[in-house]
Amino acid sequence: MSAFKAIRYLMSPSSIAVVGASRTPGKIGHEILKNIIEYGFKGQVYPVNPRATEVLGLKCYPSVSSIGKPVDLAIIVIPAQAVLPVIRDCVKSKVKVAAVITSGFGEVGNKQLEAEVVKTAREGGMRILGPNIFGVYCAASDLNATFGPKDVLKGSIAFITQSGALGIALMGWTITEKIGLSAIVSIGNKADLDDADFIEYFNWDNSTRVILIYIEGVRDGRRFMEAALETSINKPIIALKSGVSKRGMVAASSHTGSLAGSAQVYKAAFKQSGVLIASTVSQAFDWARMFSSNFKFYGYNTVIITNGGGVGVMASDACEKLSIPLIDPSEELKNKLRRFMPPFGSVKNPIDLTGMASEEDYKGAISTCLSSEEVNAIIVLYCETAVTNPVMIAKTIASSIKAQDKPVVASLIGGSKTQLAINELNYRGVPAYNEPYKAVDSLSAFFKWNKWRTKSY
Ligand code: ACO
Repeated sequence: MSAFKAIRYLMSPSSIAVVGASRTPGKIGHEILKNIIEYGFKGQVYPVNPRATEVLGLKCYPSVSSIGKPVDLAIIVIPAQAVLPVIRDCVKSKVKVAAVITSGFGEVGNKQLEAEVVKTAREGGMRILGPNIFGVYCAASDLNATFGPKDVLKGSIAFITQSGALGIALMGWTITEKIGLSAIVSIGNKADLDDADFIEYFNWDNSTRVILIYIEGVRDGRRFMEAALETSINKPIIALKSGVSKRGMVAASSHTGSLAGSAQVYKAAFKQSGVLIASTVSQAFDWARMFSSNFKFYGYNTVIITNGGGVGVMASDACEKLSIPLIDPSEELKNKLRRFMPPFGSVKNPIDLTGMASEEDYKGAISTCLSSEEVNAIIVLYCETAVTNPVMIAKTIASSIKAQDKPVVASLIGGSKTQLAINELNYRGVPAYNEPYKAVDSLSAFFKWNKWRTKSY
């Protein structure tokens, strides 16, 4: 079976067998089954455990072949030495793809067993995800087959991760940060299906707008680059590449058995394939938030709208550093903008509505800039004041943009109400951050990708 077809079954199975569905809460097999049920997967779910008759209210089967009905996806959560016979049973039962959660394979030198598992599966027409993974999540099919947090938010970012623990931690982090995901795939040792296969799949997948990948090493560099290049033209890929230091490379080798490779080689290869390299987890997700919005690229000419001089200056510095051109508004545009500020405001760029700025002022200034051909993108800044309600400001910003697809990024600074306002904006599809640099940096990533893309067409 082709990798693409297998991944379709992995992401949208009609039926799942959980092999090693433990009766004991807290055990991985139990928690995965629980997540599948509680996240609301609509297909058939079959727990498999020869020592149980029922797990979490579902009838339990002694083996996959005893289910007697078609199984698309088998999730395997039993000790390493028991995996191969189960793979044989899955092949016999015509299972399409198996996600092997189990550790103790190539990453600890047990390469022969890993190769045997893959060979048995491939010869029988089945494909393998893993081993050494935390599972898979797909928003479109209400599938949370992981032992990570349950309440993953739905969105349009596909997250591929070679690190399990980091991936699980980031699942929790995305929930707190209100970041929506279309999919999460833990690829672990990637003994069979690998990053390139998933990049190709998410390029095709309409529910994914941006791909974020945590990567330690690539086995087939050429194939990875080909898949990345083809996809980057269509959707952005953001990479978090670790294992770039001497010690980091050694650590990557014992973590997932990867050859991390030199930082320079990766940097050059990623650049050539249009892959954006993020330096930190939060930067990667900041960018992903930007790309998951509905904006189109109109050009680079940018304005800053603010109610605070200081943050305006900070954002101006960041724009210069990141090569974002701030326009000098024409007299016509300046005259239009004057209506939304007191006489001591500034119509230069940054457009300073002053600390007196009301929701109506923000609305007027944003709408004016959105309808001006001089402006291709807007950075909206807000500092919490006692004369404004941050959440109302956020709602006003979002409603001023409405169906517009000109890029608007926001940065709001303040207390707990401001955090709610940031959440409100993000929820409504306006990328919003808690400091100006992040907003500017995310807009810069958007420009960078579009520049690469327009050149590559
Ligand atoms: N078929 C079906 N069920 C079986 C079979 C079998 N052949 N063999 C055992 N079982 C049942 C067991 O009876 C048990 O159920 P019970 O608890 O109701 O008795 C259940 O399957 C689990 O088997 P255990 O022997 O209890 O195994 P345990 O749950 O302790 O460990 C596991 C299995 C989780 C796969 C372990 O071997 C492992 O690999 N752990 C690491 C997983 C991991 O971390 N993966 C990487 C993730 S990413 C990260 O780093 C976070």
